[in-house]
Amino acid sequence: MKCKICNKQTKRIFSFGKMPIANGFLTNVTDHEYLYNLTINFCSFCLMVQIGDTVPATKMFNKNYHFISSTSETMIDHFKKQAKEILNIIKNKNNPLIIELGSNDGIMLKHIARKKYRHLGIEPAQNVASIAIKNGVNTTTEFFNLKTARKIAAEYGKADVICGSNVTCHIEDLNSVARGVYELLKNDGVWFFEDPYIYDIIHKTSFDQIYDEHIYYFSGLSVKNFGELHGFELVDMKPQQFHGGSMRYYLKKKNNNKITKRVKLLLTREIRNHLNKYSGYIQFSRNIKMICHDLKKLVIKLKRNGSSIAGYGATSKSTTLLKLVKISAIHIDYITDNTTTKIDKFTPYTHIPVKSRQYYLQHIPDYMLLLAWNHAKEILNKERQFRNKGGKFITFFPKVKII
Ligand code: TMP
Ligand code: ZN
Repeated sequence: MKCKICNKQTKRIFSFGKMPIANGFLTNVTDHEYLYNLTINFCSFCLMVQIGDTVPATKMFNKNYHFISSTSETMIDHFKKQAKEILNIIKNKNNPLIIELGSNDGIMLKHIARKKYRHLGIEPAQNVASIAIKNGVNTTTEFFNLKTARKIAAEYGKADVICGSNVTCHIEDLNSVARGVYELLKNDGVWFFEDPYIYDIIHKTSFDQIYDEHIYYFSGLSVKNFGELHGFELVDMKPQQFHGGSMRYYLKKKNNNKITKRVKLLLTREIRNHLNKYSGYIQFSRNIKMICHDLKKLVIKLKRNGSSIAGYGATSKSTTLLKLVKISAIHIDYITDNTTTKIDKFTPYTHIPVKSRQYYLQHIPDYMLLLAWNHAKEILNKERQFRNKGGKFITFFPKVKII
């Protein structure tokens, strides 16, 4: 498999076998499902970790996209803070322009819109884009690439800030994105993006982050190389307690920019953990197998003892976990989720029914598999009553545990 950034040969870290589309919730279990071969690979040249085969973007981000950002309090709060940081960056700028790639339902940009700053959200999934528009966020429904960038630059002029959260790693042709950002960004502008951080994925063995939408798994080292390929410098990195451990990368056009100490420290830590070498990823692959084995064993034991198990959070990432561990509707009665568009649908491939919170309150299980583990703090807090009445949660990263 060739590297999608530098076109050199990559090495396979792990193969997950055939997978359905992670967000491909089904209306009927008999619906046709698109399957692809999921592998994760490492490029020893530009150090980018990436999946091998990809799914056409229109199959993932279309009018039926089920990921709505504003379903979690943690997320609402996170993006309010991010907007505050942007307002700080632009505070002395004249008539600034802020552009967000993958603006979803406008969870972040609505704070910028409320302050009447010029802004544009670029969101290819029509259903979520229309929520943003209703929220007063100026949004265009398209994919971002060099062509779109040129069109936007002609209409709006150049941007002071271009940002994207949990979107950059979704775009296969990242080289085209970087070229587009370069053209659309002012010379002193900043491009920042945040995505799940490979360092955290390796440390927690959170392999469920690996699915069709996440094409790249960035490290500071790979983002630095990628940026330099396109005339950018990596000027800052800020760790985020989000999606189980993310990193926000800040890039500026090459111009002897000040690089923060944090960048040097984080890059050094990555090298110390061998993220610059294929050998640094071998243990990860062993750990994946161990967690799958332990989780399957526990689920089977609980079922044998007559316990009922439900899932909490019909996340995209749980598609990888459930399929790889071979957990299906035989083991899990249902998965509760608060996203209206997912309710009463079925999980991809494993066909577990997704049910409302109301349904869950009427069908309390003995155990809850915490699929939305990245929201553990919020969920455990919200479900105190379940636990007080003897209900238990099953977590699985970095080790399978009952809590
Ligand atoms: P995410 O892990 O990709 O952010 O997805 C979280 C999923 O979990 C999303 O479908 C919403 C759902 N969820 C609930 O149903 N209840 C909750 O309290 C939280 C925090 C999330
Ligand atoms: Zn490469």
